[in-house]
Parts: sequence; structure tokens; C-alpha cells
Amino acid sequence: EKGNFEHFMLKEIYEQPKAIEDSLRGRMNASQGWIKLGGLDEYINRIDKAERFIITACGTSWHSGMIGEYLLEDLARIPVEVEYASEFRYRNPIIRDNDVVIAISQSGETADTLAAIELAKERQALIYGICNVIGSSIARASHAGSYTHAGPEIGVASTKAFSTQVSIITLIALQIAQVKGTIPTSKMREILYELENISKKIEETLLLNDQIKEIAAIYKDANNFLYLGRGYNFPVALEGALKLKEISYIHAEGYPAAEMKHGPIALIDENMPVVFLATNKSAYEKIVSNVQEVKARKGKIIAVVLKGDTQIAELADHVIEVPETEEILSPLITIVPLQLLAYHIAIMRGCNVDQPRNLAKSVTVE
Ligand code: M6R
Repeated sequence: EKGNFEHFMLKEIYEQPKAIEDSLRGRMNASQGWIKLGGLDEYINRIDKAERFIITACGTSWHSGMIGEYLLEDLARIPVEVEYASEFRYRNPIIRDNDVVIAISQSGETADTLAAIELAKERQALIYGICNVIGSSIARASHAGSYTHAGPEIGVASTKAFSTQVSIITLIALQIAQVKGTIPTSKMREILYELENISKKIEETLLLNDQIKEIAAIYKDANNFLYLGRGYNFPVALEGALKLKEISYIHAEGYPAAEMKHGPIALIDENMPVVFLATNKSAYEKIVSNVQEVKARKGKIIAVVLKGDTQIAELADHVIEVPETEEILSPLITIVPLQLLAYHIAIMRGCNVDQPRNLAKSVTVE
């Protein structure tokens, strides 16, 4: 049921605060400082000894996996590789019995992801599934795992599944970090508090809907879009571009902002809208100079910035101001305006956002 919403996709975008709360509930407590994923507890000795994690998935779930790589390396100091399941399964990959393979899948039925974990299982790796559909094939084929509690996702474009996947991987990274002692207790508390409050900040971000709709009206006829971000916002740029491609049929590419000068900068002229994810405090000055590079070539700049930002606001054509959080949690916030932008552009172009052409909700054939 779509309730008051015109489309499932919009409803699911708005359900994200609740979906995240449902996915975190009973699994962490900030004031008591604990994190507890049942599936992780069961295999914690083996996970603690793992020399490497491999994350495998497709599409949006692969983007969650990339964020997982940053989180696990940053917090738990474990080397991570992120693999497209379709490539991984066919290239005779090196998989060892002390590897942990995390498979991420909303549907739990994606053929390539399922085949990738069957291969890893044969080679004795531990398989940890992150699925949304209870009892799905990938959930059943995994040794252990955690469900995302997003509820049914009907729109073909994945939204709340993505943000709940990112929430679960954040918990995994935090719990392993706690076991390994790789981050100070005080830092752990700060992150847990922010995570406990992230839904409120997403609610706040959703209030930007009308502003984003106005921006959508200006760029709805564009033929191309670039999405640029650094660090934790790089996978968000990829995901934002995917959302636009799949529902509006506009060609869009996501890139690490600094990689732009190695090629894509050639595309920039007055007809190229460039969406910058510029909320990173750690790389702020570097992003400012990336924005300047685009401006110098007359690209149209839509920048997602932290509330109160002035430097980028001066350069950009449009700024979307989002609430500040821990940088490692920022994808949960910065993805929201990009989902809304893709949604409004697609609607204005007369596209069927819930069932875009050529796509199925779950890809059960390779
Ligand atoms: O069900 P899964 O998470 O395994 O699906 C993976 C991809 O097919 C899926 O994320 C796809 O890319 C979405 N349409 C993206 O919005």
C-alpha cells in the first residue's frame, strides 16, 4: 500500500528513518555502550581471526559494500576487498579458509551473488549474509548473518534497503572494532550516539524535498550528469548516479572528485550539471578546489553541503544544506537528497519510477 504517497519509491525514501531505527533496535545502546549482532556473536572467534574480508554484491548493494570497506578498514583495521559478484565468481579468485565473505542483497535472490557465495563456501570461507528478505536463498546459504529490517521494498530503485544495509555494516564494523580494541571507548560512544540519532537527522533532510523539486525542474532536460564525492561520499556519488540512470534514463556517472581531472573534466561545459557531495570535514579544502575546477569550466554546480557552509555556497549554483554528523555516518544523510533529486527528475520526465523499463526488482538470472 502506497498510503499518502504517489509512488512506492517516494514512500520508501520517507520510510528510511523508521527502517533504520527498526534495523538498529535491540542491536546497540549508546548510553550503555554496547553493540550486539546475534549473527556476529556466534562466529566472533573466527571473525576476529580473519585476515581479510571480502564483500560481494551487485548494484546498489555493491555500493553499500564499498561503504562497508571504508568502515571496516577505518574502524576495525581489517583489509577488505569489494567485489562485483558477477566478476568475482568467474575469475578464479583467491579465497582462503580464514577469509570472511560478506554477501549483501536486498532480495537475497540475486543469482550472481548467490553463486559467488557458493564458490566461497566451497573454499571454506565463512559466509556472512546481509539480506532484507527473511528466508531468502542467500540468507539460507550463509553461515551467519543479520537481516536488515527495511520492510518490503517494492520500488525497483533501491532506497531504504541501501540505508539499512549501510546501518548494519556500520554495526558490524563497530562490534568488531570493540572486540579488537581498535577505536577508543570514547570515540565508540560518540559514534553510537550519532547513530542512535541519525533517523532524526534524516527526517530533517527529508524536509528539503520542496527545494530539491525546484532544482529538479531546472535540470530535468539535461542529457548527462556527473556526481562527485570523496572518501565516504564517493560510493554515495556512485549510488546517486545509479538512481538517476535507472529511473530517469539520463546518463549519469559517479566519480571520486579528485579523479575528475584524469578524464571526466573534458566533459564539463555549461550544459553539464555536476552534483558535488561536499560534507566531508576531513577533505573540505580539497573539495572546494574540485568545485572551483568545475566552475572554471562553466559546469552547473549542485552541492550538498553541511548546514552553514559559506565557501562552497559562494561557488555553487545551488546548495542543499544537510545536518552534520560523524563523517563515517554521512552516507546515511547525503544519499537522501540524491534519491529525491532522481525521483523528481524522473517524474517530471514522465517516467515510471516504480517500474523502470528493462529492470526487474530482483535479478535471478545471470
Ligand atoms: O536484491 P539485491 O540487493 O541483490 O539486488 C542487487 C541489484 O540488482 C539492485 O541493487 C539494483 O542495482 C537496484 N535496482 C538498484 O536500485
